[in-house]
Amino acid sequence: MQMTKIFTKNDIKEAAAELKMGELVAFPTETVYGLGADATNEKAVKRVYLAKGRPSDNPLIVTVSSIKMVERFVGEISSDAKKLMEKFWPGSLTIILNIIPGSLSEAVTGGLKTAAFRMPNNQVTLNLISELDRPLVGPSANSSGKPSPTTAKHVFHDLEGKISGIVDDGPATVGVESTIIDMSTDVPTILRPGAVTPESLEETLGKMVISDKHKVKDQETPKAPGMKYKHYAPNAQVLIVKDNDWPEALKFAQENQDEIAVLATDDILSSTEVKLEYSLGQDEKSAAKNLFAGLRYFDDMPQVKYILAKEFLDDGLGMAYMNRLKKSSGNQFFNGDLVEN
Ligand code: TXA
Ligand code: MG
Repeated sequence: MQMTKIFTKNDIKEAAAELKMGELVAFPTETVYGLGADATNEKAVKRVYLAKGRPSDNPLIVTVSSIKMVERFVGEISSDAKKLMEKFWPGSLTIILNIIPGSLSEAVTGGLKTAAFRMPNNQVTLNLISELDRPLVGPSANSSGKPSPTTAKHVFHDLEGKISGIVDDGPATVGVESTIIDMSTDVPTILRPGAVTPESLEETLGKMVISDKHKVKDQETPKAPGMKYKHYAPNAQVLIVKDNDWPEALKFAQENQDEIAVLATDDILSSTEVKLEYSLGQDEKSAAKNLFAGLRYFDDMPQVKYILAKEFLDDGLGMAYMNRLKKSSGNQFFNGDLVEN
């Protein structure tokens, strides 16, 4: 066990010094908090897997503070990838590119010929990386399998004693992880939906992008290796509730008020009296921001057996929200008998 310090934006030099020594420091981004280690220090990178309990074939995002920093590992950046960086960075887009062989360790790439690059929209973290002058690996700073952390407190809950510090810059504003686009293939392919939409990517590139809906089976090597593992799972079973099913779902929650919690928007919550509730706010934007915090909120209540959670339209940020919610529920929906596949 080590002491986990809380750093603020005024402690960047100290946090960078820890990273230089091969220590782990969690950092804020606009999407979720990341678990940082010097991406060029293989030993430090290996400790990230250990701290998270993450399977070692699951590669890590390389978090940079400039486009120039990417060139160290990629050489010349293709004009399409450059367009995306110039349009969306700093911001919630992770770009997969072919790398110069050997420029990043296998601990970072999981043995792939590519790496995922991201420049987050958080000035404190950009300062931290600039101070270090090396990229940080940056998986979400949660225990593997748990909802991603959107506050420093969430990180502390999962990783206290396992990492040297957390840079606290308040709650994440987007709340779901970045869109991942694979630019190493002939046709640009979205591997994970996020705040940057397929439409805006197509508009910027002036060509079609495809979404990889291909379901990953255990045996094969998935496109984004992380996709095959259990994800975002709170202690209780999550059930997704379709709009039409709310009256019945709320009745159910009231009749079993100690065991059934409700994660929904204000309009739904204000129409009823349920004991255990967490607000997603008003719309898909606030829902994306509040989803992980809501799932984690009920983890502190061991009596909760089910979390009834609002479905949104699979569109824009709603697509990112539904992607996470479906994983956290194992794709289970509420019906009168409680569960439906
Ligand atoms: O918003 C985010 O992207 C956050 C913040 C902290 O930056 N990070 C994040 O990292 O979500 P992580 O490790 O939880 O998710 C990264 C995903 C994983 O599913 C991983 O398998 C995939 O990206 N990935 C990483 N490198 C890849 C590569 N070279 N090819 C395909 N997928 C890759
Ligand atoms: Mg993650």
